[in-house]
Amino acid sequence: MTRVFSGIKPTGPVQLGNLLGALRRWVADQDDADTVFCVVDLHALTVPQDPAELRTRTLELAQLLLAVGIDPDRSTLFVQSHVVEHSELSWILECTAAFGELRRMTQFKDKSEGADFVSAGLFTYPALMAADILLYDTDEVPVGDDQRQHVELARDLAIRFNHRYGDTFVVPKATFPAAGARVMDLQHPTRKMSKSEESPQGTILVLEPLDQVAKKIKRAVTDAETEVRYDPEAKPGVSNLLSILGACTGDDPAELAGRFTRYGDLKAATADAVVEVLRPIQQRYAELAADPAGTAAVLAKGADKARAVAGPVLERARANLGLLPRT
Ligand code: TYM
Repeated sequence: MTRVFSGIKPTGPVQLGNLLGALRRWVADQDDADTVFCVVDLHALTVPQDPAELRTRTLELAQLLLAVGIDPDRSTLFVQSHVVEHSELSWILECTAAFGELRRMTQFKDKSEGADFVSAGLFTYPALMAADILLYDTDEVPVGDDQRQHVELARDLAIRFNHRYGDTFVVPKATFPAAGARVMDLQHPTRKMSKSEESPQGTILVLEPLDQVAKKIKRAVTDAETEVRYDPEAKPGVSNLLSILGACTGDDPAELAGRFTRYGDLKAATADAVVEVLRPIQQRYAELAADPAGTAAVLAKGADKARAVAGPVLERARANLGLLPRT
């Protein structure tokens, strides 16, 4: 059976890009793959976090994943720091990665530029991400387009390690959605929607009031023309709306364009589709939020299931590297 692994950082409210680029596919993958999903709290530490907030956000993110449809009976759902194997394999992969290849990571360049404190962890982050993936003998990693380069690195590290030390890791590949791999900011459609607080009007949060969601979509930036056409280069705003609508309904964005003659109708249809996707998630989240102990129990069981897979894979790596076994 295909093994699927993916993760999400507890660094801020979940936005529509996370949902359409990744989370909805995690749910779908449960039908035909062995699925493992992780709240990657160690990844959040690359920038300073408020401890109380990090704790709350980690639990709330797990509750949101359950609300979106992750089923703990069919998937392994856990918190990264509960499975210590991630940190150990991360070190091993830091020693497998080249300095130059980490320096080429575009996310590192973007996030470090202009920052007054750049942690060493921000630089080695992709090695930890590779560890997350390789620990589970992962075949496929469902992610949004912004993670393409990181998954590619995980692949390269697996191949390099196997070449040096013998067959150890399964070589993973990233998978992307047909529509929604790169959801753009509604106000600045040439940059990706992100959970940062930079553009509140351009970002749709999964848990924000639905009337506000509809308003933001209706006020989305388009262009001075009137033709509805899918052309991300020339018409980024309109194309973004078509992609969002297509991701919600399962239709092809270019084909959807032919159904609309006015921007207003496209916006109204997109707003309705997004609201219908978010409504049941918000309802389930409200129920789950009332039972934090229930979610904590799910995560404890998930960590046990995860360790049962990660432990033997790490042992394989240790043995092949020549680390002296504990007797
Ligand atoms: P993170 O937490 O930033 O985002 C989680 C997922 O959401 C996707 N995503 C988007 N997709 C489409 N359009 C957008 N605007 C958009 N914004 C975010 C991301 O591509 C991602 O799939 N490094 C990862 C977390 C991670 C991970 C892993 C992922 C750690 N270890 C192992 C996969 C496997 C990250 O920061 O994602």
